[in-house]
Amino acid sequence: MSALKNINNEYILDILENQDHTTVTILSSLLSVQDGIGFLPKNAIKVVADFVNVTTNDVWGVASYYLNFRFDPPGKHTIEICWGPSCHVNGASKLQSSVLEKFKLKNQGDTSDGKFTLKFNTCLGACPQAPMISINHKLSGKMNSLKLLKMLDKLK
Ligand code: FES
Repeated sequence: MSALKNINNEYILDILENQDHTTVTILSSLLSVQDGIGFLPKNAIKVVADFVNVTTNDVWGVASYYLNFRFDPPGKHTIEICWGPSCHVNGASKLQSSVLEKFKLKNQGDTSDGKFTLKFNTCLGACPQAPMISINHKLSGKMNSLKLLKMLDKLK
């Protein structure tokens, strides 16, 4: 993980220059970096500021406003549990409590061994398959606690 903390500026710039969006904003640029690397390394703030032609304060303002941005590398595996309306009425809270208990966490976050990052998502975009989860960006629907815990046990 520590090697990830030293992502060089050229790598970040390459991500920024290859964004899909036609309109490049501070937010879209930060999202691209986080999607590409998994978090916002310290130097990304300056690289984004130069790329969008704003100050580093402008970029920090956006990066620190949105709770979804993280400034440290995530765990090896990222688990997302949707708790949006469709998933909520179809049992998302049971999934949440099962995983929180398994990970010995009180809320979303990283496990102490750095193996997992748990996130609660407001909609994973597949409501008819509720309740939805995502493991390392791979979606699975019609989830239940037993199935989810088995899937987590298989992750190395
Ligand atoms: S509310 Fe869960 S996928 Fe949309």
